[in-house]
Parts: sequence; structure tokens; C-alpha cells
Amino acid sequence: MKTRMLRDIVVSEVGMGCMALSHGYGKIPPETYSIEAIRNAYDHGCNFFDTAEVYSPNLAGIGHNELIVGKALKDIRKNVVIATKLMPSRMGSLFGGGMYKTVKDHLLASLDRLQTDYVDIYYLHRTHGVSVEKVAEAMGRLIDEGLIRGWGLSQVDVDVIDRAQRITPLAAIQNIYSMVERDSEAEIIPYCIENNIGFVPFSPIASGLLSGKITPQTQFERNDDVRNWVPQLSRANIAGNQPIVEMLKEIAQKKDATPAQISLAWMLHKYPNVVPIPGSKNKERIVENLNSSDVELTDEEFTALEESLNALKVYGHRGLGGF
Ligand SMILES: NC(=O)c1ccc[n+]([C@@H]2O[C@H](COP(=O)([O-])OP(=O)(O)OC[C@H]3O[C@@H](n4cnc5c(N)ncnc54)[C@H](OP(=O)(O)O)[C@@H]3O)[C@@H](O)[C@H]2O)c1
Repeated sequence: MKTRMLRDIVVSEVGMGCMALSHGYGKIPPETYSIEAIRNAYDHGCNFFDTAEVYSPNLAGIGHNELIVGKALKDIRKNVVIATKLMPSRMGSLFGGGMYKTVKDHLLASLDRLQTDYVDIYYLHRTHGVSVEKVAEAMGRLIDEGLIRGWGLSQVDVDVIDRAQRITPLAAIQNIYSMVERDSEAEIIPYCIENNIGFVPFSPIASGLLSGKITPQTQFERNDDVRNWVPQLSRANIAGNQPIVEMLKEIAQKKDATPAQISLAWMLHKYPNVVPIPGSKNKERIVENLNSSDVELTDEEFTALEESLNALKVYGHRGLGGF
């Protein structure tokens, strides 16, 4: 697969979001299947794997997903880029030791679960009440110690990014971004391009909406399924967003691709620093998403797509705030 840079870290153009193997999209697969799915993604050219300390069933406990990622990648560790995240709400009791110690303690626990001695990109998962400057300083020390190669922030605006960047340059920003969540286009992605920061969209196919497989009749799972509250996926909004899905289906047919692939090819064409991390619990769909790297849109196709998209109303908005 083609590669891109997240500052000085080389990654496959499309990564794999591993969250759903532990949390967020209903029943999780057996561990052996999840490990095979990660290895299969690697065999299909993916070298970039995204996890977080909080990815566990129902967000209860800690580290379920990191343990799976660690088992899957331990014997090919040097060939892959692992990103994980630190959640401020889990940092409380450790604050007594200061920011550096708190961040380092969390990192060491993640390294243990990931069966490695360094993380490639260590993100602050949310900024909630935490001094981003102090985190930036701590991350700088961890880079100097060789425990992380780079660091990042998630769900942040340009002001926060700039304050952090001035202290320790960032490798990546991981914000929600898709054809129906475009807040980062105005200032954040241009800032990242200007400052050599990678931009890693999460939920890049809008939690499945842009695959065209979700209809107003789709029943989401009752337990641990974020699709019950993703704004674009209320029954009314699934119906309202159908023109976007129909447009994708039409282009997909012409390009001998799938709607999910077109939605990813769109962002890859649009920005040189974007590396999406689609998620799936299904081996074949993971590969389908990775193969979006081979779906080339011409400039004319991209412009036509962009113009059609701009003319369509999006129903539902999550944005960068809140959860
Ligand atoms: N930083 C953060 O705060 C944050 C928040 C959320 C997620 N993330 C990261 O971003 C990654 C991706 O985000 P996400 O999983 O929320 O959203 P996503 O990739 O936009 O969508 C995942 C959903 O789409 C479905 N899907 C995926 N590919 C498909 C395809 N080709 N055809 C049909 N359906 C498809 C999946 O169903 P199936 O499983 O049935 O295929 C799943 O329900 C996560 O794994 C996680 O690593 C980060």
C-alpha cells in the first residue's frame, strides 16, 4: 500500500481502527478472530493500528483492546506503527505525582499490555480539564527517553493544537472527520498541513452510514453500541442523509468500488496529510476499506464529488465537543 507521513513516522495510507474489537459496535468477536483480523490487515499492507487504554467492553475496566493488539503484533512489532491513547478521566488518582509521572505511569501500563517497549504515537484522548501545555512537556520528555516516537491530541480545536505544538511538536491530530463531519476542514487540517502534522480521521465512514449498508430499518445492538446515539444515525437522519449515500453508490458503481471506499478515497485525494483509520469487526470489510488506497479519483471526479457533496444537506452533527 502507498504510505504517508505523520511528521517523521511512515504509515500505510489507510490504517486500522481496532476499537470495535473491544467496544462501541455491539457484541465483540472471539479474541482469536480479532487477532486474525489484525494480522490479515497487516498481510494486506496495513502497518498502522489504532487503539486506546479505554477500549474495553462498555468502557468498563481498562486495556482489553491493547491486549489484543499486543498479541496480534508482538512478533512483527518493528514493522508496524502502534498508536494508543491516554484518557484524562482515568488519570485522577495519579495526579499527586505530577503530570509527567501520571502520563508515564499510564504509558508504562499500555506498553505492558501491548507487549512492547515503545509506542509510536501516544495521544491524549480528550483534553477534559487537563493542562495541554503540561501534557506537551511530559510527552516531550517521553520522546527524549525513547518511550514514544511522537504524540498527538484527539478532538481538539486549533487553539489547543497551537498551544501544544509550541511546546512539543505534534505527530498527529485524531479528530472525527468524514463526508458528514467536516468541522476540521476550516482551520485544523490547514494548520496541520502548514505545521507538518498528520491528520488521522476517526469514524471516517460515519460509523457505517457512508457504506450504504445502513437503512432507517437497521436495528443497532442494545449493548455498547455507539450507533444508538451517533447523530447521523437516528432513524430520521438516516433517511435525511440518503441523498449522500445514493450519490456515493452511483460513483462507486462507475468506479467499480464500494461506497465506503469512495468516501475514503475522497479524503485521501483531498489532503496529503490525511490517514483515515476505518474500523470494522469483519475481516473482509477491513480489507475492503484498506483497498480504498487503490481507488484513485481523478481531479475532475473529485471536483464533481465535492460539488455534489457541498450541495447536499447533512442531517445530524457531532462535532469536536462533548463526548
Ligand atoms: N479518538 C477518538 O475519540 C475515537 C473515537 C471513535 C473511534 N476512534 C478510532 O477510530 C476508529 C474508526 O472509527 P469507528 O469505528 O467509530 O467508525 P467507522 O470506521 O466510520 O465505522 C465503523 C462502522 O462501520 C461499519 N463498516 C466499516 N467498514 C464497512 C464497510 N466497508 N461496509 C459496511 N460497513 C462497514 C462497521 O461495521 P462492521 O463492524 O459490521 O463492519 C462499524 O459499524 C476506531 O476503531 C478507533 O480506533 C477514535
